Amino acid sequence: MTALPPIAAPSMLSADFSRLGEELAIVEGDRDWLHCDVMDHHFVPNLTFGPLLVAAARKLTTACLDVHLMVERPWLMVDAFREAGADVITVHLEACRETREVLRQIRATGAKAGLAVKPGTPYAAAAPYLSDLDLFLVMTVEPGFGGQEFMPEMMEKVSQARDERTRKRLDFVIEVDGGIADATARVARAAGADVFVAGHAVFRAADPRVALAGLRAAIAG
Ligand code: DX5
Ligand code: ZN
Repeated sequence: MTALPPIAAPSMLSADFSRLGEELAIVEGDRDWLHCDVMDHHFVPNLTFGPLLVAAARKLTTACLDVHLMVERPWLMVDAFREAGADVITVHLEACRETREVLRQIRATGAKAGLAVKPGTPYAAAAPYLSDLDLFLVMTVEPGFGGQEFMPEMMEKVSQARDERTRKRLDFVIEVDGGIADATARVARAAGADVFVAGHAVFRAADPRVALAGLRAAIAG
């Protein structure tokens, strides 16, 4: 992870794939991350892309590739995404049976290990794993689609994770994903988030470069 928090992580999901090179050119490798949403039409009711596109993104940006696996049996795909160039690989707690083992497997590839929780999953379910991960992803929408409304009630999980990190002197970043734009990013920042995923707010803006600059400023303030 080259960049230091707070970090803006534009989500490729909302980009125009017919001109991906141009779209990803706004992502600055030394300070932003590129968030890659992988969906399998089983864990979530949508289907996106696999390692092939992550490998293409790897050629287009030097930014940290932050791969969010919204798939069933994610452990079967960890190696393929690492080989494609993923720097961070995040799996869903709800999709894992041996969560600690999957986190260990991700780290063994050399990638950073992330664990995500859906809105309905309580903080307490993830808490036992916070000492074994590099990133904790609090979903602020129901995973599956970009362009949904931010759920402020998820901020309690963010603050609980931040407080536990301080109390136990743990070392991980807290990421929020879903409905993030300047105002909601400020709310999440205040609650303790470090990494801010934004799809529509960046790539569907009239000028994505300006929108990304605005998001960086919002989280820096
Ligand atoms: C939703 C994805 C998000 C999505 C966010 O399931 O995990 O990363 O791209 O999109 P916005 O920022 O448009 O809510
Ligand atoms: Zn995501």
